[in-house]
Amino acid sequence: MKTENRYTVITGASQGLGKSLATECAKRGRDLILISLPNENINELTNELADKYDIHTIGYETDLTEDSNITELSEWITNNYHIDMLVNNAGTGGTKRFSDATESYIDNIIFLNIRALVMLTRNLLPLLKEQKKAYILNIASLASFGPMPFKTVYPASKAFVYSFSRGLNAELKDCNITVSVAHPGGMATNPDVSERIDKYNSFVKATILSPEEVANICIKKILKGKSLIIPGVSGKLSWMFFRYFPAQLRLNIFRKTLLKEIKPQKQIDYA
Ligand SMILES: NC(=O)c1ccc[n+]([C@@H]2O[C@H](COP(=O)([O-])OP(=O)(O)OC[C@H]3O[C@@H](n4cnc5c(N)ncnc54)[C@H](OP(=O)(O)O)[C@@H]3O)[C@@H](O)[C@H]2O)c1
Repeated sequence: MKTENRYTVITGASQGLGKSLATECAKRGRDLILISLPNENINELTNELADKYDIHTIGYETDLTEDSNITELSEWITNNYHIDMLVNNAGTGGTKRFSDATESYIDNIIFLNIRALVMLTRNLLPLLKEQKKAYILNIASLASFGPMPFKTVYPASKAFVYSFSRGLNAELKDCNITVSVAHPGGMATNPDVSERIDKYNSFVKATILSPEEVANICIKKILKGKSLIIPGVSGKLSWMFFRYFPAQLRLNIFRKTLLKEIKPQKQIDYA
């Protein structure tokens, strides 16, 4: 027998943007099913949010790069709960030469950023359709808007998230579900990004949003039915850079900047 509560499901919820999105939803009194990788202490967060905001919370640990785990999670939710929001936040990426990327590095990005997001959406759509009003929020990135050397697979995966989300939103136009896609810029959520942000000048640093600010904007906008979310003025300026700056010049700028982020490779003498 299912409980009467309507839950918000959030992936990648134990830290970073996912944790901030969970907190924003909790502040609005939404009951939560929070998904994280095993051993990330998700139940510490579920207990904290339940106590502080007087909501129902459930933690679930799984690796979403495994197909069978996505099926198991979807069946568990479907058999036990009603949901009215799905937030596909879990995602991964990195900066390295494509020729140095291992099969597992590439698989991780494609399976998590693309396959897990699509299959969870597909599997949970029937549950969302049962509600009078329901929401899907997919977290993409500003990197969705153009290719980037030395990141290659990550922006391509986020371009997929953008295209998938916009297409699905139009497909579901006549039903009760809004599909939104959010495009945050860099946030100091993990050591990789924090190190990069540390190198920016103070003007650029001042325009960077925290995960809390991004989460607040995302949840506010999705509840208003906005399907495209670009948080902050700096985000909107970056979007204009992607849209209006000549592609070849943009790629050259990224090449110079991102080359500094990867370790120098030994020069190969082809002579
Ligand atoms: N940070 C940025 O600058 C930035 C910028 C633009 C877009 N984004 C996007 O925002 C989202 C959140 O990023 P973030 O920076 O907050 O987090 P993050 O540090 O990049 O980590 C992503 C989260 O995804 C979850 N995850 C990773 N591998 C997983 C797997 N195999 N199975 C299940 N979950 C897995 C983990 O959640 P748990 O720890 O809970 O297990 C992890 O905390 C991502 O989609 C990212 O691409 C981030």
